[in-house]
Amino acid sequence: MIELTRRYGFPAAHILRQPSLSDAENLTTYGKCANPNGHGHNYGVEVTVSGPIDERTGRILSPDLLDRIFEERVESRFARRLLNDDEIFRDRVPTAENIALVIHAALADEVAKRSSAEVVRVKIVETRHNSCISGALS
Ligand code: NI
Repeated sequence: MIELTRRYGFPAAHILRQPSLSDAENLTTYGKCANPNGHGHNYGVEVTVSGPIDERTGRILSPDLLDRIFEERVESRFARRLLNDDEIFRDRVPTAENIALVIHAALADEVAKRSSAEVVRVKIVETRHNSCISGALS
């Protein structure tokens, strides 16, 4: 088995707030990250794909293709936005955990459709103290 990992990033803001909780409960749960004004991160994203090596190119997939898919499915949708405004985060708090799962799902279909590779892992680096890795969603 062979894997390829490419590293991306995008700036975005979020508010850690569970709409079903009161302001006081959100503050207890998320601390300063619940601040309703939001705050930003430069999210690092490592996308790992696996699959057969193309005999002609010697590659699992073209890095340019993965870059294009990342731009179309992630960067154009989430960069420089308040993540809470995106419909997918309406009923899930945009924690690093949920961001990893959402980005994994956003890339998986398109990579499978346009190559013979599959996305096996997405790592979100939120701060130097905090990162999350999604596994296979199935
Ligand atoms: Ni944060």
